[in-house]
Amino acid sequence: MSQSDEFRYTHEHPQLGVEPLDTKRYYSETFFEQEREKIFKHCWLNIGREEEIPEPGDYIVRELEICKTSVLVVRGKDGQIRAFHNMCSHRANPVAWDERGHCPGVFVCRFHAWSYDTEGKLVSITDKDRFFDVKKEENGLTPISLDSWSGFIFINLQAEPEQSLAEFLSPADEAMKGYPFDKLSYTYFYKIKEKVNWKLLQEAQQEGWHLPYLHKNTLAKSATNSGELFRHAAVKCYGKHGLVSSHAPRDYKPSPSAAVSMKFGTGTFDAFAIEDEKDESANDFVWHGAFDLYHVFPNMFIGLLRGSFFTYHIWPLSVDESIWEVRFYYPKAKNAGELFALEYGKAGLRDALREDSFTHEKVQSVIASGAKEVLHFQDEELVLRNFNHFVDEYVNKV
Ligand code: FES
Ligand SMILES: [Fe+2]
Repeated sequence: MSQSDEFRYTHEHPQLGVEPLDTKRYYSETFFEQEREKIFKHCWLNIGREEEIPEPGDYIVRELEICKTSVLVVRGKDGQIRAFHNMCSHRANPVAWDERGHCPGVFVCRFHAWSYDTEGKLVSITDKDRFFDVKKEENGLTPISLDSWSGFIFINLQAEPEQSLAEFLSPADEAMKGYPFDKLSYTYFYKIKEKVNWKLLQEAQQEGWHLPYLHKNTLAKSATNSGELFRHAAVKCYGKHGLVSSHAPRDYKPSPSAAVSMKFGTGTFDAFAIEDEKDESANDFVWHGAFDLYHVFPNMFIGLLRGSFFTYHIWPLSVDESIWEVRFYYPKAKNAGELFALEYGKAGLRDALREDSFTHEKVQSVIASGAKEVLHFQDEELVLRNFNHFVDEYVNKV
């Protein structure tokens, strides 16, 4: 077999080229400010799921440091979900201070008690007669564009988004169609603050090729055949979004504790090992492997497994600091065995996240030296190449 026959993915995307990638993008303050303005303030961003606010008046607050704002998402009396800048029209105090809660009727600003209803309308101005012609109807909360896909709530900070959410997600939304998101419930959350550029953090999740090395004592046993180079089940670009899929290994033998966990539930990364069994709950969803990990541009991952899914959100704080949020969704545990399976999976994931996190910070600690001007991506790392291609496309837009 010639060398080129080994290239399964990159040659299908000639527009991406095969050149190495410059490293300045990981430590340049100027580049980071462009990313803030042209990516995060332009793209649709997922900030939650609809079931987090099931009742009228329920709300969540998301601090979006990268966009220099706080976002209030609230379900109105009419059942509709809306988003606003969490900022009072008087002197800019956030009207909701808690991460989540229930608004019984109005949000009362804690600074001087102006109040707003769940549709963002300014209801009352404290000491109104002392103000100079401030009109209630012109001073509601500032709305933010919001839309949902498969229960995921997205916002867009452009005054008028240049694309609808459906246009923005296409064709990745189509690829995930049929996955039973609504049958799985939010179960646990990890939040990791790392000294790393947001792209470096993400790129380590956009390929499984590092599994046999970095994760040799954790995830590798669930996803690789011992002694073999890692090959994805699929690597795909869906416009600016991407997919890496992993096969179950042929020679997988669960440890005794993993075997118990697998008996009671899928709350384990050993679920990688389930590939051929028919997943009755997955409607007409088309699997590419045992574990399909979608990247939704610019900063979200949706990891699909048989019987569970998870999300990653990577929020930049500065050019070399980011937050990594991990949320896992499972069927509700009905007995002690299923609870054990969940805890087993949670602990197993924690160990792997530590391996990743430690490595991200190691990379960031040297990259700003400029000693290496470029990085190299191989064929299995196509999604990293595609991701950076679109980062450049957004940043270079006039
Ligand atoms: S800042 Fe909200 S009432 Fe003054
Ligand atoms: Fe990893």
